[in-house]
Amino acid sequence: MIDIDAPVQDNSLVWSDARLLGFMPMDDTHKEFHDVALRLVTCTDTSALAAIEEFEKHAVSHFEQEEEWMRTTNFPPRDCHIKEHEGVLKSVREVKSAIEDGRAGCALAQDIGVRLFQWFPGHADYMDSALAAWMTKLTMGGKPVVFRKNI
Ligand SMILES: [Fe+2]
Ligand SMILES: [Fe+2]
Repeated sequence: MIDIDAPVQDNSLVWSDARLLGFMPMDDTHKEFHDVALRLVTCTDTSALAAIEEFEKHAVSHFEQEEEWMRTTNFPPRDCHIKEHEGVLKSVREVKSAIEDGRAGCALAQDIGVRLFQWFPGHADYMDSALAAWMTKLTMGGKPVVFRKNI
């Protein structure tokens, strides 16, 4: 029997609809997060710099978008959410500069990719999900309804 109330235990490298939060613009960005983080995990020495640059570009727009939603709607608990984003971006930029300078190669890029996959489910479940519920309530006047397939 499947326990539908069991917490989602998903830090797999493959996108799963179990990760949907019900606010479509955020869900689309989170699917993109999986794609660009996967490119880090699977990069080679030749593609490591492009992969970390692409991830940084994604992270900047991903986090700016969420922070703009929080600011423009006066979302109350936004400080620690923004701090987590800043921490991730700082680590990503450190890895990028090490690869740019030739101090590191694909192993470091793959390592941060794996750590991003480990970080994401907790962040999405505790921080992004609260923002998704808030945004859905503001824009739709109700709680998010999530239709998931293939779970
Ligand atoms: Fe997010
Ligand atoms: Fe976030």
